[in-house]
Amino acid sequence: MGHHPARRAALRSAFLASLAAASAPLTTAALAQDRRGVRARAPLAASPEERRILSIIEDVYRRQRYLSVPEEDGRLLRILAESIGAQHVVELGTSTGYSGLWLLLALARTGGRLTTFEYDRGRRDVARANFERAGVLDRASLVLGDAHIEISKLKAPIDLLFIDADKEGYLDYLRQLAPLVRAGGLIVAHNMASPPPDPRYVEAVTADPAFDTVFLNMDEAGVGVTLKKR
Ligand SMILES: C[S@@+](CC[C@H](N)C(=O)[O-])C[C@H]1O[C@@H](n2cnc3c(N)ncnc32)[C@H](O)[C@@H]1O
Repeated sequence: MGHHPARRAALRSAFLASLAAASAPLTTAALAQDRRGVRARAPLAASPEERRILSIIEDVYRRQRYLSVPEEDGRLLRILAESIGAQHVVELGTSTGYSGLWLLLALARTGGRLTTFEYDRGRRDVARANFERAGVLDRASLVLGDAHIEISKLKAPIDLLFIDADKEGYLDYLRQLAPLVRAGGLIVAHNMASPPPDPRYVEAVTADPAFDTVFLNMDEAGVGVTLKKR
């Protein structure tokens, strides 16, 4: 037999209160999800390797963020890279290695490699130390220098290109590297909501029938996900 309606209501509000008390402070994206009645949990490690990488990711997020992507976008990068079985990911804008660690979490499972570009030596060094702490440095090539110049040395195929360096440079990065992205590969661009993106980049990935682009997590910085069609 069920509870009396008043008792049921009391149980329900106690349950909701306990959920609210248990929640960490919510990001805008998490709040938006919450309003729709669903919310992703923190990522759960399925192996000691994943636990180690996730613990470094959390540590970098707490102590060493420098213009790093929000956690939600890091998780998205990992999901995208792992789901396409990426063998070569190129990142423009290493910073302290936060987004790189999410990508490397995927690459540790796919057996792939990350090439990441940064022109600030100090941040490059911090990123390298973080990759080492996470046990994934052997999967990463950190290139120091102006990405607009250094990327000319890259070779095809790139499975996933992640653009997150100088915001006015996105169109040049796209023009130089889209030809190296394999058919069926992805071009992911950060800051498609804030700061406002270069409209020429948005036009290039939305008006070309060779691509299909959606914009995600636009409540926060915003992420453009572009498929280079087969
Ligand atoms: C938004 S931060 C990258 C954040 C990083 N992707 C993360 O989420 O952890 C941008 C980085 O790109 C670097 N950067 C900007 N322009 C660059 C260029 N032309 N070449 C190489 N690095 C550049 C900056 O020094 C800065 O560290």
